[in-house]
Amino acid sequence: MKILRGSSKRSSALNNINHCYQTTYGLRGGVSPPSDVLSLCVNSGKISGYATGEEAQAGRNCPTDAEPMPSLESSDVDSNYDELLHVAQLAARAGGKKLLEWRGKFVTREKSRADLVTDADLASQQAIAAVVSNHFPDHAFLGEENPGAASELLAQPTCWVVDPLDGTTNYVHGFPAFAVSVAVVVEGELVAGVVLNPLNDEVYSAVKHGGAWCNGKPIRVSQTASLNKALVALSLPPQASETSPDVLDFLALIGRCHGIRRTGSAALNLAFVARGVLDAQWARSIKAWDVAAGVLLVREAGGLVSASNGAPLDLANPHFVAGGTETLHGELVAVLAKSGASPECE
Ligand code: IPD
Ligand code: CA
Ligand code: CA
Repeated sequence: MKILRGSSKRSSALNNINHCYQTTYGLRGGVSPPSDVLSLCVNSGKISGYATGEEAQAGRNCPTDAEPMPSLESSDVDSNYDELLHVAQLAARAGGKKLLEWRGKFVTREKSRADLVTDADLASQQAIAAVVSNHFPDHAFLGEENPGAASELLAQPTCWVVDPLDGTTNYVHGFPAFAVSVAVVVEGELVAGVVLNPLNDEVYSAVKHGGAWCNGKPIRVSQTASLNKALVALSLPPQASETSPDVLDFLALIGRCHGIRRTGSAALNLAFVARGVLDAQWARSIKAWDVAAGVLLVREAGGLVSASNGAPLDLANPHFVAGGTETLHGELVAVLAKSGASPECE
């Protein structure tokens, strides 16, 4: 049983009601009161329905042939991951608060051409780092605004991977799409991830083998099986030009899908893939802090993420393809392989 169990500290109740799994979800969702109840109906290992609040209490939405609840011991969610997720949520909120506070008064500078940084990026990272080091002073920290060597930091026993403001260009121009992204890597594996949209207070959370949520409600990827029915997102690097590999990809894909979107926040794109409003995403040149939390969101929401050539994702050099279904993911990898771009273009 990999779907859900009661969170370790604040929501240990897990009851079998009408053959559905029922749990409170205050901790993982991050925004719902701990008393909220979620019931999940599982048939043949797949979620066939869910209900929250009073509906869940009443056991509604549950088919009568749902499977009985497995024992708690069979769950492989690690309660340590729940604690990490909880702190990641606190940290993301601390960063998001700074982003809102700094609007209208920040100074902007260019790190390199079209690669912007503001007071808000720095204040957010400082706030996030303070929360993390308060709880876990020994953990490694890979944040965009003081990056260090990604591969060395990611090789530490536990490493926090943080983008304090994903979508800085949007933020600077007042375009309403930016996020805070906080992820935790333990022994090289992504185990917890949070993407916060401070403008609408949406918190996307995921924990390894535990599921993905938006504001406490479980999210799933779309079931779109082929590119010709898909809405796909692209993340371009700040210095993209007409000859960039990603732009060649764009040309190869534009006539093959319903549309291509670029929100300007890779983290938000991945959250949208996880909740099924985008079907897939790719990026040729991207950083670990842009995508770490979002990759876990997509995986825990039932989707696939690989390197852009279909090989396993390497967070230290994370060009990638994410898709809701295996067929769509495979099709996107195949088109990118022919678009003329090298998969290793970092
Ligand atoms: C950027 C965003 C954007 C992606 C760029 C990133 P930043 O991050 O994620 O979507 O296309 O490659 O640099 O600079 O706003 O944190
Ligand atoms: Ca970023
Ligand atoms: Ca950033």
